[in-house]
Amino acid sequence: MVIDSFRLSYLAKTAAGVPRDLANTLVVSKLKPIRPTVLIYNCTFVCDARCTMCNNWKRGNRKEDMTLAQVDDAFDHEFWGAVENLNISGGEPTTRNDLPDMVEMFHQRLPRLRKIGINTTGLTPNRAIPMLTRIVEFCASKGLLISIRVSLDGIGDVHNQVRDVKRGFEKACQTIDAMQALAATHPNFSFGIASTIFATNLEDAQNILTWARARKLDIVFNMLRFTDNMLGNRDLEETVGFHEKEEIFMRKFFLERVQEESVLSGQTFMYLHYADMIANGYKRTMPCPFRSQGLLLNPNGDLFYCENSDLLGNLLDQSPHEIYFKAEHLAARAGFEDGICKNCLSPCQVNVGAMKQFVPYAKFLVRAYRVKHHPEQHVETLPATR
Ligand SMILES: C[S@@+](CC[C@H](N)C(=O)[O-])C[C@H]1O[C@@H](n2cnc3c(N)ncnc32)[C@H](O)[C@@H]1O
Ligand code: SF4
Ligand code: SF4
Repeated sequence: MVIDSFRLSYLAKTAAGVPRDLANTLVVSKLKPIRPTVLIYNCTFVCDARCTMCNNWKRGNRKEDMTLAQVDDAFDHEFWGAVENLNISGGEPTTRNDLPDMVEMFHQRLPRLRKIGINTTGLTPNRAIPMLTRIVEFCASKGLLISIRVSLDGIGDVHNQVRDVKRGFEKACQTIDAMQALAATHPNFSFGIASTIFATNLEDAQNILTWARARKLDIVFNMLRFTDNMLGNRDLEETVGFHEKEEIFMRKFFLERVQEESVLSGQTFMYLHYADMIANGYKRTMPCPFRSQGLLLNPNGDLFYCENSDLLGNLLDQSPHEIYFKAEHLAARAGFEDGICKNCLSPCQVNVGAMKQFVPYAKFLVRAYRVKHHPEQHVETLPATR
């Protein structure tokens, strides 16, 4: 019921932006570059876990993180006035004591903000629960939607092993329980868990799903990926990357999720595309808002168009407008679709991109419906790739 009202609010807010989105997609962004509507902010790389599949914990350095005053100063600019979706990630965001103040600052500086997303380990419940509660209550008081996911990569010891944290499962569960209770009384708050499946926890994927369902927890499965800007983990591809066994398993696993979930859910959209990419040699057919209207900000102020693009500049040295609209940078971005996007597995704000591209989204729905009822026809339905 609560999830439903969250979705309804999100759809209502999205619908309110549709004429502008349609204009941006069909006309404006093709003629002239538009300001970012989606923003990912990795607010620190400091972390309370040491995951096998991510290297952010190795590069955490509090001294390099922009202070709240520096972030506030950098966002005191009309450039940010179009941001609608903000995702705060890391590292572990709750290691920053000023996280709630940061959310309040973003609310002030981003006048079009509709929705905030936060990913957390939930591994330090005594600190995280009061902090996240304050954030959810603040968002409720301002009519802002907030979505929080606690990462869970296994049940019991498997989670402890992936995260390299003693009693990690127990600690994450404390945060999960508290957030689930909070969501029950806050319709602006959507809560769930996120799992990244790879060789180490492959055997536990079904357990995680069963565990989440028994507790009526929303769950999203991340596709394993390697990106330096976001996870600092390109060098792990060789050791952690999928082999045939994982590919076969994950394709089937994603198709099963398509069969079970509504074709209208954002997750189905992603799962079908991931199954496609495994089947088609990792050629991306998913849209991505970062091709035309996104930014990724890292803890030290470094700005990127997206998780795979080159460094554009640093917010402590230059204005965001100057960095984002630089002709040379825009020219490089125009080449993304035929370049870095080709094999990109990024899910970041993909649903935002999907909803803004009406015809491809309608085609997706037709195909998803067919695959849902005839998964054995998946390969025949694969969209053409260039
Ligand atoms: C980088 S973490 C940052 C937030 C927080 N530290 C956490 O773990 O939730 C954000 C999400 O990325 C996922 N992730 C980590 N490594 C990944 C990888 N190699 N491929 C895909 N997702 C990954 C995590 O499981 C988590 O759900
Ligand atoms: S996935 Fe999250 S918890 Fe794990 S190392 Fe990366 S940032 Fe830290
Ligand atoms: S490389 Fe990936 S994240 Fe970057 S714009 Fe392309 S699809 Fe989006």
